[in-house]
Amino acid sequence: MPIPAQLSKTLRLPLIAAPMFLISSPRLALACCKAGIVGSFPALNQRSSDGFEQWLVQMNDELANWQQRHPAKVTAPYAVNLVVHRTNPRWQPDLELCVKHQVPIVITSLGAASQVVDAVHSYGGLVFHDVTNQKHARKAAEAGVDGIIAVSAGAGGHAGTTNPFVLVHEIREVFDGAILLAGGLSHGEDVLAAQALGADLAYMGTRFINTEESEAEDAYRNMIIEAVSADIIHTPAVSGVPASFMRQSLEAAGFDMQALGKAGDVNYGEKLKPMDDEAKAWKTVWSAGQGVSQIHDVVSVEALVNRLMEEYQSARSRLL
Ligand SMILES: Cc1cc2nc3c(=O)[nH]c(=O)nc-3n(C[C@H](O)[C@H](O)[C@H](O)COP(=O)(O)O)c2cc1C
Repeated sequence: MPIPAQLSKTLRLPLIAAPMFLISSPRLALACCKAGIVGSFPALNQRSSDGFEQWLVQMNDELANWQQRHPAKVTAPYAVNLVVHRTNPRWQPDLELCVKHQVPIVITSLGAASQVVDAVHSYGGLVFHDVTNQKHARKAAEAGVDGIIAVSAGAGGHAGTTNPFVLVHEIREVFDGAILLAGGLSHGEDVLAAQALGADLAYMGTRFINTEESEAEDAYRNMIIEAVSADIIHTPAVSGVPASFMRQSLEAAGFDMQALGKAGDVNYGEKLKPMDDEAKAWKTVWSAGQGVSQIHDVVSVEALVNRLMEEYQSARSRLL
């Protein structure tokens, strides 16, 4: 399956910098788009729909301006993440704003709703949906999404537990649209490996926490530099659904390491409250994927994308 037509000529590398709670903002997303890869942020990184709308206006204005000033450069489109869950009162008003401002790509988590697909397709946008298993991939295919994000074992955030080789093939069995592979990717050769496996695009989160444009504090980025894959603990204890966190930050936050198997309550609306448990948890307990072991620096997005390009090209020429 080729990359959707809307994307094929607008990317330097088949890569999306994934949306991350409390980490991605227009600053990071704009830097990605200007560097030629898809940049993104979750709608819930703004506390209100009004604030979210301001971000959309900023994205559209700055990218239009940039394209005008740099007509020869490849400028990638941006994406917005909507958590489609009954406990998130924002998803419908935020979807209306995506339609109003014609957000090029909407990334949905949890619910794969045909309502979202119809709304985004009405203006020519694309919908990509996060899954961790074949059952949810089938539902997303039925809802008519354009792309499915295979969130495999070892990913940051709400990671899956399935091996990427297996997950991509399982999704391909039930879906002939674009597949995006997520989970531990951090080098240019990983992007090529994702394509070799049958994915159309690569999806990287943790690698982009350690960029100058992310909202992460220095201690978070330093912990990523120090951490290895064995430090990533996949536990439902922090946010109710299993997610990946660095052992060092769980310990520093005083978590009982023996009790990490117990789930808490799931409530995405809680992300909206200024000092709610969820936001406090993700602020003090830092999420990251197993790719931490491959991250040794903090660089600008532009430098990172240039490096990923070089690694991708050198891996391709090595294989030819
Ligand atoms: C700190 C952090 C926050 C995240 N927040 C979100 C989020 O709000 N919405 C979402 O769809 N995915 C979220 N994710 C998951 C990423 O979008 C992506 O699937 C994942 O980071 C890919 O795996 P990698 O980190 O190993 O590259 C988050 C990931 C991290 C590390």
